[in-house]
Order: sequence, then structure tokens, then C-alpha cells
Amino acid sequence: MAELVSMDFEAMWRALLPVGRASTGGYRRSPFASAERECLDWFLEAAVARDLRIESDGNGNVVAWWEPVGAAGPAVVTGSHLDSVTEGGAYDGPLGVVSALAAIDVLRERDVRPGRPIGVSVFAEEEGSRFGLACLGSRLATGVLAPEKAAALTDRQGVRLDEAMAAAGVTGALGRSAWLDRVGTFVELHVEQGRDLVHRDRSVAVASEIWPHGRYRFDFTGEANHAGATRMEDRHDPMLAYAATALAAGEQARASGQRATFGRIEAVPNGTNAVPSRVTAWLDARAESDDVLADLVSDIEDAGRTRSQLDGTALTLTPESVSPSVAFDASLARRLARALGDAPIIPTQAGHDAGILSGAGIPTAMLFVRNPTGVSHAPGEYAEMADCLAGVTALADVLEELAS
Ligand code: GLV
Ligand code: MN
Ligand code: MN
Ligand code: MN
Repeated sequence: MAELVSMDFEAMWRALLPVGRASTGGYRRSPFASAERECLDWFLEAAVARDLRIESDGNGNVVAWWEPVGAAGPAVVTGSHLDSVTEGGAYDGPLGVVSALAAIDVLRERDVRPGRPIGVSVFAEEEGSRFGLACLGSRLATGVLAPEKAAALTDRQGVRLDEAMAAAGVTGALGRSAWLDRVGTFVELHVEQGRDLVHRDRSVAVASEIWPHGRYRFDFTGEANHAGATRMEDRHDPMLAYAATALAAGEQARASGQRATFGRIEAVPNGTNAVPSRVTAWLDARAESDDVLADLVSDIEDAGRTRSQLDGTALTLTPESVSPSVAFDASLARRLARALGDAPIIPTQAGHDAGILSGAGIPTAMLFVRNPTGVSHAPGEYAEMADCLAGVTALADVLEELAS
């Protein structure tokens, strides 16, 4: 049986590996665009080849159902996403989808007759790399995000979400998904985005919680002017307040053990010999609790305002999305950890669709697979094949336990 898992998983993994990989080694699987669509087509074909029934919703999410005769009641659903951040890794998302299909193969090989339907889900735009809002598909499906708000989102080229979805062949209305009402338990398997499992010398863990996480837009405005002819004391340069804010973010998050990142910045007019009129920068901040997150962002904002006042520039802060902390169902986590031979139970600082489903009241769990580099959202993201297979076996064990 171990051989069969290996064959199925490895063959599927190899099929997906080249899709959307740039010459840099990084992945570009932008939602509703060609590489991600190719991954989804691959998934649909793999699901149909397994006699799974495909159900799509108007949010771009897809679920493939295994509904054996006699299976009834609330379903057990597992899955993840196929989109990536720009220049991302191969594992964040697809590992959970491919492992889900392989786990179904394992259950069939074991001749397991699940008492409940089992679904494999693929959520749309998990990373928020195109429309700016992470977990877009699961937020819409659970009703956490209003369809009108989502419909107004545009990408950096000005393409609206509904236009992108229509071009990708997504049909139906945005908003709550009927298929979610069938979900009794949701499990997401994911590559670990850190090295906790390396230190513990274990291949698989169960998640305890997701740290709260927010995205905040900082608009620093000043006065455009000549980079040579304008004396330093006459300038209103918004780049300086941005720089002070970014430094404060790094220093304050480091001092308190939290996370703060400015990973995206735009300057206007973005000319080497021009003092900018505007700098817009996006802060991604995460912390161990909702209160600590609010304090961290407020301290970072204070640093920006102090510097802005000094330079006669202005700062406007707009929270674009704030996701509160998620505590996964603790008894479910303990039960799964026991079923997996006392697997460790660890927190994560990364966002996941599992967090959105948990927040919507669905009993939810996550499994993490060891990542020897600890790198994620970058080409160095990795998992050894033996650990991927351990993840598949663990997921099959969990599905068997939950669907019996
Ligand atoms: C998504 O993976 C995130 O945590 O930003
Ligand atoms: Mn992910
Ligand atoms: Mn990610
Ligand atoms: Mn994520």
C-alpha cells in the first residue's frame, strides 16, 4: 500500500510542478489566470478520473465529492488552494489539494467505506495576491464578505473581480455557497511555514490556532519637487515618513516577538530625480492576540505621524482587512493528534481558508507537513517526498476517523 501512495502522490505532484513556474524557480499562479486555471483543469480531470462529483460555486470555489452508497449526514471536507503569491513556492496550497486526492486513493485501497460523504475542496484566491483580500473564495462562500464588496474589487490592471471570473469561465452568483451547508468538519493540510517540526523531529503536526492578521494601507502625501534644486529644509518628502514607519515596524515587531512587514510600496511619480508627492505602502501585521495586534499597528502609525509632522507631510491609514485570531476546535485537534500518534499541536502565523471556515462555526482542523527550509511564499519552500507521503497517510487516517 505504501508503494501505491507513493506512486499516486508523486505522479500527481510531478504533473503539477511545471505549471506556472517562472525561470527564477518561483511560481506565478495568479487567481483566475492561465497557470492557476491549468492547475484547476488538472484537478478537475484527476477528480473525474476518481469518479468524484464536481460541484462549483459562483465564487470560483470547487468541491469534488466522494459519495459512496450508504454515506450520509454531514460531510468531511478537506482541501486547500491552487493559487500562489507572485514568485511563490510549489507547496503552499497545492500540497493540501494533491494530498486530499491521494488520501482518497489510500482510503479506497484500504477498502474503507466512509459513513459520511468526503469532499475535496479548492478555494479561489486564497493568497489575495491579485485582488488584495486573502481567502476571497472562502470569505464569500461563508458569507463573511458581502458580494457587493467583492464585486467592486479590482486588480492592479483595473480588472474587476467579476470580469476576471467571467473570463475564467466561473458562472453563478457571488455569495454564500450551498455546498458549505453540507460540511460537518473541515480539514486543511498545508506545508509548514516555519521550522517547528524540524526542531521537534516530527513530520506532521496539528494546528492549534492562527494569529490575528491585518493588511493596512499607509498613504504618505507631501509635495513633488526637484531633487536637485530644492533645498533639503524646503522639502515635504513623504518618503521619509514612510522610511521611519518601516523602521519602526521592524524594530517594534522584533522587540515584542510579533510580525510586521512592508512588502509592497508605490511611489508617485517614482522618478529618481523627483521628490515624490505620494508614497503608498502596505503593512502586513500579525500578532499573538487581537489586542497586541491593535497596539502594534497603533505604535507603528504613531511613528509615521511623528515623522510626518516633522516634515510637513501627511499620513492616512486605511485598514484593508483585519482577520481576528482563530482558535481551532481544541477537542478535535487533540483527537486528531492522538490518532496521529501524539502529533504536536502548534500555532501558525499564516492565514488559511481553514481559519475562515472555523470562524464561520464549522469544526475545523489543520495538519502541517514539515518544511526543512522553513521558507514559504518564496521559491525555497520545500517538503521532502517522505514527509509529503507521511502527510497523505496522516490525512487518510484523519478522514477515516472523521468519516466513520
Ligand atoms: C497567506 O498565506 C498569508 O498568510 O498571508
Ligand atoms: Mn496556503
Ligand atoms: Mn500562502
Ligand atoms: Mn495562506
